[in-house]
Amino acid sequence: MALENLFINDNKTLIHAWKLITLNGKNIVFCVNDDNKLTGVLTDGDIRKYLLETENYHVLVKDIMNKNFVYATHKEDKVSIMTKMNSRISIIPIVNDDFILVDYFEHKIDMYIPIAIPNLGGNEFNYLMDAFLSTWISSKGDYIKRFEKGFAEFCFQNNTESYGIAVSNGTVALHLALVTLGIGPGDEVIVPDLTFAATINAVLYTGATPVIVDIEEDSWCIDPNEIEKAITPRTKAIIPVHVYGQPCNMDRIMEIAKKNNLYVVEDCAEAHGAEYKGNKVGTFGNISCFSFFANKVITTGEGGMCITSDPNLAEKMRILRDHGMSKTKRYWHDFVGFNYRMTNLQAAIGLAQLERIDFILEEKEKLEKLYREKLKKNPLISFQKNDFPERKKITWMISVLYDGDKDKLTNNFIKNNIEVRPFFYPLSDMPIYKEYARSCSVSKEISAKGLNFPTNKIVNIELIDKIDNCL
Ligand SMILES: Cc1ncc(COP(=O)(O)O)c(C=O)c1O
Repeated sequence: MALENLFINDNKTLIHAWKLITLNGKNIVFCVNDDNKLTGVLTDGDIRKYLLETENYHVLVKDIMNKNFVYATHKEDKVSIMTKMNSRISIIPIVNDDFILVDYFEHKIDMYIPIAIPNLGGNEFNYLMDAFLSTWISSKGDYIKRFEKGFAEFCFQNNTESYGIAVSNGTVALHLALVTLGIGPGDEVIVPDLTFAATINAVLYTGATPVIVDIEEDSWCIDPNEIEKAITPRTKAIIPVHVYGQPCNMDRIMEIAKKNNLYVVEDCAEAHGAEYKGNKVGTFGNISCFSFFANKVITTGEGGMCITSDPNLAEKMRILRDHGMSKTKRYWHDFVGFNYRMTNLQAAIGLAQLERIDFILEEKEKLEKLYREKLKKNPLISFQKNDFPERKKITWMISVLYDGDKDKLTNNFIKNNIEVRPFFYPLSDMPIYKEYARSCSVSKEISAKGLNFPTNKIVNIELIDKIDNCL
């Protein structure tokens, strides 16, 4: 809608304002002074209330408008604007630096609500521009080193020497870790049945044989008892996946690995910042892998990282990431390596994200509390377990088990323009992975019931109510 039917000079009378509101159909007009500066807003309701009390049609707009109103500036992003809206405020004026009305934003009730929206409200754009202007736009540059160091320190909490190796995505992070540990044909690697396919694909890329095992019923993570049962003389490594933000039972897993001389590669793609007995996930295994895809806790668009406390593994990963090229003799290749590098542009975004990772995690946790509070009376919903004494999960995506008709629910969500995500299919259900699976009954049950709800900044109480109605 054109802006002209939405604003009125505040020297006009109430009757003019009411005509305009009737014309624009938005139940509101924005009021401006002679310099087009925004001075107030006047709603249909304000006018009715005033007329009931006074019957004075000739009062000036500026004498009855609301001077204490919600607005946004032209520099704010959509997410920031959306957080200002609620069930009463569905349209707000937008002003420039001189407070001149330049636009408006309207929240349509049926607006599409995605599962995730990256939170890019910090230094992301500044750092990205800085990297761009520096012309260091490929995989050399200061931002890469700063992001690697900063992220490794975030995970290890400065408790030990730590190394970060930034890569192009979380899948290649897993592949790089396995190759660096010498995993290849003839080896077996144990993976959980409930995970994103990248976990098992990375094993297959190495030529090793994945062995799929069942998950714990309460945590949805790999079951240590099932790991023990699956070990053979060929087993070389375990990949515990901290699925949906929940840490695995790391004491048991590390104990089994030690006893059987196995490597541990943690898949932390969905659990940045989660803790097991006060230590962050990613600090237990020989190498740990993260994803920075746009729906992850922090993002670089596409991107990933391997972290380790072992300097030799770190050095080998750096070489393999860069075509296997010798660090001392240029264009001499000691290994068949890969180009798995991250760009300085991605790392610039990553560093800005890292500055706010604690804030982002807190916001997500608050949102989960809100969901739990609002939906606690719904008998069909059970939330992911969050009271393990030794595990501190994070909120990646709100994860629940649903006891009703999932197809019907999904249709209800689609009708209401709300995205809902089913859990991953068990790997053991898919023909391409079936042959690697041991018996997995728990994962099938969890996967069949599991759903993720929108977990982003524009979700508010009203939306959760709407979700409740869809259940
Ligand atoms: C558990 C798990 N592992 C690995 C990956 C792969 O990460 P990426 O998408 O960055 O390749 C993902 C991402 O989606 C994931 O959820």
